Amino acid sequence: MSFSIVILGSGRGSNAEALLHARDNRQLGEAQIAGLVSDQAEAGILELGNRFSVPANYLDPGERGAHLSPEAEAVYIECIQSFSPSLIVLAGFMRIIGPKFIEAFKGRVLNLHPSLLPSFKGANGIRDAFEHGVKVTGCTIHWVTPQLDAGPIIDQKPVRIEPSDSLAVVERKVHAAEHQLLPKVVASLSRGEIPLP
Ligand code: GAR
Repeated sequence: MSFSIVILGSGRGSNAEALLHARDNRQLGEAQIAGLVSDQAEAGILELGNRFSVPANYLDPGERGAHLSPEAEAVYIECIQSFSPSLIVLAGFMRIIGPKFIEAFKGRVLNLHPSLLPSFKGANGIRDAFEHGVKVTGCTIHWVTPQLDAGPIIDQKPVRIEPSDSLAVVERKVHAAEHQLLPKVVASLSRGEIPLP
């Protein structure tokens, strides 16, 4: 049975790239990457479309700050539904997903967050952990629910912060942990090894 995924991102797309490399190296289980979607026309994630032969779409988020406008949300839902995905992966998608979107893809949307939730929710998980002085941070993959960064946790990977680490070093460590954890979790989900919520 095919297990197709759509990846949403707003930035450079290094996690989408990690998933695409895993696909090319046959390390993504049964998962196929059906499409890439971004709310930023210039986002690096969209450039991956050509490189990896995957449809990549910029979709205007509308004028609603951190949220999608209601009109934009409808366009996002329609575009993503056209791929009939088994799973939607939020990999650095920096918009708050509304209840309509969550309902349309109930139990099929996961988010990657760069801290050990429930600590350091929000848009600056790595910096907030670093500035707080924690000795261990990491990354979390969780199901998306209407409460921001609070859905059931699927898996986590810790990262040790050494006294000599700069913020840039911690960022590199957390991203490296994400690039390992995300393909592993997607592969496990595609094989039915992790239950859906
Ligand atoms: C990742 O570190 C991801 O955890 C974070 O954005 C980055 C995207 O990087 N997401 C959040 O902070 C969500 N609150 P990428 O574009 O290179 O994959």
